[in-house]
Amino acid sequence: MNTSCIIRGMGHCVPDTKLTNADFERMVETNDEWIVSRTGIRERHVALNGETCVDLCHGASLKALKSAGMEAAELTHVLVATFSADAVIPSAACMLSHRLGLAGRMSLDISAACSGFLYALETARALVALHPEAKILVAACDIVSSRVDYTDRSTCILFGDGAGAIVVTADSPELKGGRVQDVLVASDGAMGDLLTIKGGGSGTPYKLGDAVRRDFFVEMNGREVYKHAVRAMSGVCEELMTRHGYTCADVDVFIPHQANLRIVEAVGKRLGMPTEKVFTNLQKYGNTSAASVPLALSEAHAEGVIKPGNLVLLGTFGGGFTWGSALVRF
Ligand code: ACO
Repeated sequence: MNTSCIIRGMGHCVPDTKLTNADFERMVETNDEWIVSRTGIRERHVALNGETCVDLCHGASLKALKSAGMEAAELTHVLVATFSADAVIPSAACMLSHRLGLAGRMSLDISAACSGFLYALETARALVALHPEAKILVAACDIVSSRVDYTDRSTCILFGDGAGAIVVTADSPELKGGRVQDVLVASDGAMGDLLTIKGGGSGTPYKLGDAVRRDFFVEMNGREVYKHAVRAMSGVCEELMTRHGYTCADVDVFIPHQANLRIVEAVGKRLGMPTEKVFTNLQKYGNTSAASVPLALSEAHAEGVIKPGNLVLLGTFGGGFTWGSALVRF
């Protein structure tokens, strides 16, 4: 039985509205030079027109299905990686299934912050092993702007909204796409307090009439997150490459979590990855959390950066902490 997976189609979707560094200069005490030198980010797409997680997932999913040459009705499972679903109940995956005209499928949200896409891909691999006929939609989306305090200059400049989606099936020699060679995901809750959105959770509940508090938004120890992100993302990428006897010389394109340019550069340096192999689009989108890697993967593929035969290395790091890596041969 062949239970390895192939990515058959990819798509991404972002809101129309952009916030530039100049916009932030009018909102908080900051400037373009500080933001660009510390993060590399120049603009982000933000859901200011009421776009929701499911709206963006839907847009990305339709593109992924089209590029896979598949109809939504063929899908057997719908996975959505997000921390910012439209509602607590129903899940984003249930809403997305319904939006795609599906009923009777397994629909599941996966919460692993910025690593959610690779957690969902690993789940899809397990589902394909159980059900070789499965056709799985993996969408990853965050409306980070819904949980960003736009008066906090140390966090608000970092994030944007977006979605990426892929269609995964069991591999077969006649199929075209990205063959998923391996995925490695991990977590350590001991450092969870360094990056949180606690307010509204059952540990920090709100009562009717309470004012929204600071804990409703992203709270982060930027310096500590930076150190752990660099260490964990480079470590997991190294471990996965070593497992398969690869070095950076074997990798054609490296797509790390688009947190910020300094983290990306530090990870590349630790790995010894040549700069020209590292794909970034964070300059245009900021940190889109769960969407970051699939959005970059989809864009790199659409732009022809990823060519047939290329080995692509993916790396993620997020709140939890969670981290992960994947190897995909196109
Ligand atoms: N504009 C101007 N000044 C600012 C801004 C801003 N937007 N934000 C903070 N500052 C100030 C601070 O107040 C501080 O001033 P002070 O020295 O007078 O107190 C000064 O700049 C330095 O602040 P630091 O936080 O030490 O700045 P640092 O050089 O560490 O850069 C940054 C901050 C960019 C957030 C950095 O720590 C970082 O990249 N951390 C990782 C954050 C991240 O990307 N998290 C997400 C990754 S994980 C995930 O995606 C879930």
